[in-house]
Amino acid sequence: MSHQPQRMPGPKGHFLFGHLREYRRDKVALFLRAMHDYGDMVYLRIGNQHVCLVSDPESIIKVLQHESHNYKTASSYRELEKLIGQGLVTTAGESWRQHRTALQPLFRMNNLSPVVTICAELTRRAIGSWFNGLANAASPIDIYQEMRHLTMDITSAVLFGSASSIPKDDFNQAFDSAHYYLMQRIESFIKLELPTPARRAFHRSKHALYTYIDQIIQQHRSASSSCQTMLSAMMQARDEAAGQLFSDRELRDEVLTLFLVGYDTTATALTWLFYLLSQHPEVQAKVEAEVASELHVGAPTLETLASLTYTASTVEETLRLYPPVWAFSREAVRDSTLGQYTIEAGNKVVICPYAIHRHPKFWHSPEDFLPERFHRRSPREHISGSYLPFGLGSRQCLGRNIATIMLRVILIMVTQQCRFEPVSGRNPEHRAGVFLKPRHRIYLMPVRIADRCDDRDE
Ligand code: HEM
Repeated sequence: MSHQPQRMPGPKGHFLFGHLREYRRDKVALFLRAMHDYGDMVYLRIGNQHVCLVSDPESIIKVLQHESHNYKTASSYRELEKLIGQGLVTTAGESWRQHRTALQPLFRMNNLSPVVTICAELTRRAIGSWFNGLANAASPIDIYQEMRHLTMDITSAVLFGSASSIPKDDFNQAFDSAHYYLMQRIESFIKLELPTPARRAFHRSKHALYTYIDQIIQQHRSASSSCQTMLSAMMQARDEAAGQLFSDRELRDEVLTLFLVGYDTTATALTWLFYLLSQHPEVQAKVEAEVASELHVGAPTLETLASLTYTASTVEETLRLYPPVWAFSREAVRDSTLGQYTIEAGNKVVICPYAIHRHPKFWHSPEDFLPERFHRRSPREHISGSYLPFGLGSRQCLGRNIATIMLRVILIMVTQQCRFEPVSGRNPEHRAGVFLKPRHRIYLMPVRIADRCDDRDE
């Protein structure tokens, strides 16, 4: 049984529930306030969990990198496993190492040129649909839903070789309802395995998601095409001792994991990106100027992406203010120390990029959207451990290169043709589940670049 880490400061909570109520109401606000009020190492009891909120970069690097053997992924990952099975996100040990080693080369930047072409083509089609075949007219769009559709098509094309055949709205609905059920469980004090209607609905959603993915794998197996895709590379991966590296179930779990985290994290980031740009025309104008001068109207390539440094900084700054994976956690497997504190086996360590990215010690004007802070500086030049939208260490995001390409190419393609203008003045709130999504729909109006020139000429 673990206890409060030795004398770590923290707010006093309810004698029975600790900070469970505040956690359920607004997790992001709880962590942000705790960091501001109590410092870089804060103790919080959330229900029956002893939580150390760690915002000190040196300690973060210890947990995720140098002493990662002292920690394992936390119990919330066991809950996720109920939905996404045993893929890279949820497994550990030898099986995780083997799968990560086999998949890593597929995600190296120099193998990802085709991803740039796929993103450019599918974004071009999406923009066409916003204008519905007409030259200029458009209606406001629900930016998160649009970005989910687009990233689902792109992720599908990258993994399976063709844009999604999945009914997108049904898939999103099944994912959202299964995700909601899991978040309720993660947030609950006592986790019972009773056959409630909510649990049955969860299993129906899960079954629907598995059926879609199984169909794709089945179609791939029976297709005579010699076209090499990420999925076919996974099917062909071999282990010297056991032959085929991925069993049928492992393949399904890995594919589902890559697909779900791949499309929804990126759609979330794009939603915040276009929302921020709609609020900051001065940043939008600089991105437009850079894209026009470096690319004119041409499509981006892997090489030209690197030369668009202000565009890249705009993406990095969005991931600072709104990191889609806003927090993640580990559990100490043995007693260890962080700074002056002993972390007992069983204690949970929470790392919250959302809070760390707004820490006034590491970021000037932390609440402001200022891509300039990254311009011509690599994120690595910031204090290591203070900028981690993709995590750190051996479990750092496998898909970060693909995500970076998707974000930059979509931004460039949109910028060449249109910009988004705000529809309502309301500041959107976020809802923190596994990802940091908008709580309510955000509508933005796509406006053709030429339209705006015409307006100015009048
Ligand atoms: C903006 C988009 C994305 C963000 C912000 C993001 C963020 C993250 C973070 C923070 C982690 C580490 C979690 C931890 O340490 O517990 C992670 C892990 C992972 N991500 Fe991403 N991700 C993004 C896109 C993608 C994409 C496009 C893919 C694949 C197509 C992907 C696949 C993975 C996988 C497989 C892991 C688990 C890695 C492991 O444990 O070995 N992610 N991601």
